[in-house]
Formats: sequence, structure tokens, C-alpha cells
Amino acid sequence: MTQVIRAAAQLRDKVAGWKRSGILVGVVPTMGALHDGHLSLIREARRHSDRVIVTIFVNPMQFNNPDDLKKYPRDEARDLALLEAAGVDVLFAPGVEEVYPDGFCTCVSVSGVSAPLEGAFRPGHFDGMATVVAKLFGMTQAGRAFFGEKDWQQLQVVRRLTLDLNIPVRVIGCPTVREEDGLAMSSRNVRLSTDERRIAPVLWREMQAAAQAIRSGAEIAPTMAAARERILRGGYRSIDYLELRGADDLRPVSDLSEPVRMLAAAWLGDVRLIDNIAV
Ligand code: PAJ
Repeated sequence: MTQVIRAAAQLRDKVAGWKRSGILVGVVPTMGALHDGHLSLIREARRHSDRVIVTIFVNPMQFNNPDDLKKYPRDEARDLALLEAAGVDVLFAPGVEEVYPDGFCTCVSVSGVSAPLEGAFRPGHFDGMATVVAKLFGMTQAGRAFFGEKDWQQLQVVRRLTLDLNIPVRVIGCPTVREEDGLAMSSRNVRLSTDERRIAPVLWREMQAAAQAIRSGAEIAPTMAAARERILRGGYRSIDYLELRGADDLRPVSDLSEPVRMLAAAWLGDVRLIDNIAV
């Protein structure tokens, strides 16, 4: 039975009880509209913890685009049924006033790793994300936290913030779950039209092809330019970025002398999709 908790004080009491008995608590922070990507994080959390808390909070502070916030899919009843089936102990689903009560005025801002890519194209997004994740760590007091590699830069920002603020949580990254045709699962995929859904995997396919070519010795700049060209010809409207970066610090790289990640964000109609792969 999944217990639904909406008040931080009640969650704190619950977790304090667990911790007195030496129980290891894992948390999976989400914004709901759960899919198999989220469920894979929950499975990992169950493997590594005695009790699992899933949080659902569509965090207004991290949406730089009001329309995106308005259109974000929400269906708590469906989500709760999935959490029950997955054996989750607690769903923490606070309201906006619980997370941001009157007078709230703190912001957690991680520089460096937050600055490029998503940080450049979605101003304020990572400040909002880092602030709510720091709060969720405080509210859940979890010892382990599970994040998807789907949001690679987010994962690196969260790692940085827990180190910098001495938050006693172990951050565990979990591989991206994909549809059969390679499209990374995302709550935003439901907004794609039938045509767009058919086109969508072009992004990942071209990224794979480019990564493979670069691993085999092809020159980076022309290979990336050709991939960009093919993604646009394949039906994407525009590309915010398609780049190789240092896997941990997301600094620009010009060769494969350190672990490298390829990251992309592109628009298919009105939907912005992101993806990333190892090179
Ligand atoms: P949300 O987009 O709901 O994602 C919740 C978690 O699920 C994140 O760690 C994300 O990386 C992971 N995830 C999403 N799609 C995935 C996929 N296809 N495979 C594997 N993992 C996947 O990310 C957020 O919410 C928010 O920014 C949050 C961290 C909850 C803070 O508000």
C-alpha cells in the first residue's frame, strides 16, 4: 500500500521513525506523468534501499516557459496506481504552498556545470531545479537518491550541489530508458502528433551514427555538422544545441582524451526534446 503524504512535517515524522530502526531510505524525485523511465528508477531504488519515497511535484520555479508549465501532463490517480504496482512505500505530493510558502526567498544556484547547454537555453531552469531538489533532500532525509541519465546535465548539477552543500545523500545515476525505435521516454512525448512521433527517433539515430563515426576516428567538427544537417532534413524544426562535452564538468572538448558525452536539444513542432549518449 502506497501512503500519500502532502505535508513535509508528516513526511519528516514518518522518515524519522524509519531511521530510528536503521532503515535505509531511497528517494526518486519526479514531476509525475510517470513512464517506464521513472519506473526503472523506482526498481533501482528498491534494489538499493529498504523503503522508497517517490515525490511528485511539478515545480513552477524550474519552468522558464509558462506555456510548458501549463501544458505539463498531470494525472495523479494514474501515477498512484503505477506506484502501488511498483511497491513504492510513500508518495510525497506536496502542493505549491507547501514547497514555497509565503515569504520563501532562497535560491540554490550552481554555477559552472549549470551554465552551458540547458542552462543557456532555459535561463533560471537549473536554479529552480537545484532549489527544489535541495528542498526535497531536506524534506525526505533520504540516504540515496535516483536520477536518470536522460537528463545528463541535471544529474551532474545534482551531484555538484550535494557535494558543495554537504548533503548526506548518495546520488545514483540510472541509464536512459528508450522506446523500441530508440526515442528516449519523456513525459513530453505525449504532446507529439502521430507524424512527429514517427520522426522523433531521427535525433537519437543521428547522434548514434555520429558518435560511432567519431569513435572510429572521423573528425569531430564536420561529423557533428553533418549530423545536424541530417536531423533537420529528417523533420526537426530547429536545434538548440548538438555538442560534445566533458562527461562530468560539461566543458567543451576537442578530442576523446577524457570521457565525453554527446548532448542535444531540438524542436519537433512545438515540442522540445533532449537526449544524450556516451561517445
Ligand atoms: P522528471 O522529468 O519527471 O524526471 C524524473 C526523473 O526521471 C529524472 O531523474 C529523469 O532524469 C528521469 N527520467 C526521465 N525520463 C527518463 C528515461 N527515459 N530514462 C531514465 N530516466 C528518466 O527531472 C525532473 O522530473 C525534475 O527536474 C526533478 C528532478 C523532479 C526536479 O523537479
